[in-house]
Amino acid sequence: MNFDKTPRKIKKMFDKIAPQYDFWNNIISFYTHIYIKKAAIRALTIKPNSKVLDLCSGSGDLSRIAKDMEPSIESFGVDFSEKMINIAKTKAPNTVFSLQDATNTDFEDSYFDYILMGFGLRNIEDRKKALKEVFRLLKKGGYFLHIDFGCKNFLSTIYDFAILLLTKLFSGNEKAYKYLIKSKNQFPSPNELVKEFNNCGFEVKKINFCCCKLISYQILIKN
Ligand SMILES: C[S@@+](CC[C@H](N)C(=O)[O-])C[C@H]1O[C@@H](n2cnc3c(N)ncnc32)[C@H](O)[C@@H]1O
Repeated sequence: MNFDKTPRKIKKMFDKIAPQYDFWNNIISFYTHIYIKKAAIRALTIKPNSKVLDLCSGSGDLSRIAKDMEPSIESFGVDFSEKMINIAKTKAPNTVFSLQDATNTDFEDSYFDYILMGFGLRNIEDRKKALKEVFRLLKKGGYFLHIDFGCKNFLSTIYDFAILLLTKLFSGNEKAYKYLIKSKNQFPSPNELVKEFNNCGFEVKKINFCCCKLISYQILIKN
């Protein structure tokens, strides 16, 4: 099956799955995603009064966790799915969310101290453009936290099979989860990604793997 990754199609897909997004995230991550997100944000050690952007915020988990950990931050979230943003606004009421394309936002240059992006870059057709935007938005010395799936191995093949079966039987949205598995498998490995980050000007501060290497997060710095 061919998947169209144009922004219009991706936005439509996320609008469609938004009402069940959190529920299915819990199921397909076996309830681990929140712990991984918390561990990754903890590893950032966000400084008080910083400006923090959750890019491709979806339902707002990362902004909520960051604000809970460091209540003094100014928290912003961006997503282009209105349905996702509406959910995020209720989950993270102290974050300012806006409907924007992550590759072309209306924030000033060097506005943020931290940019968080969980499971977003994989859905963006023009990754380079998105990374250039992250670079533009970050202050010098600012940090970019990127979280997504990790290594492709025997375990990830079993994972793919289990998710496809579960979502086919129960989600009522088989196509979106087929897309998830395909986009995951077509996405560069964490080490390949690091090269793309380097090419856009970032330096790697930390690369970490969780859940038998099925998930990885990278902390990059704009020097
Ligand atoms: C898989 S969800 C991740 C949500 C959240 N960050 C999390 O970790 O649960 C990906 C989100 O990225 C958004 N997205 C994808 N491409 C985007 C773009 N170009 N601009 C803004 N949002 C985008 C989608 O609407 C969706 O809400």
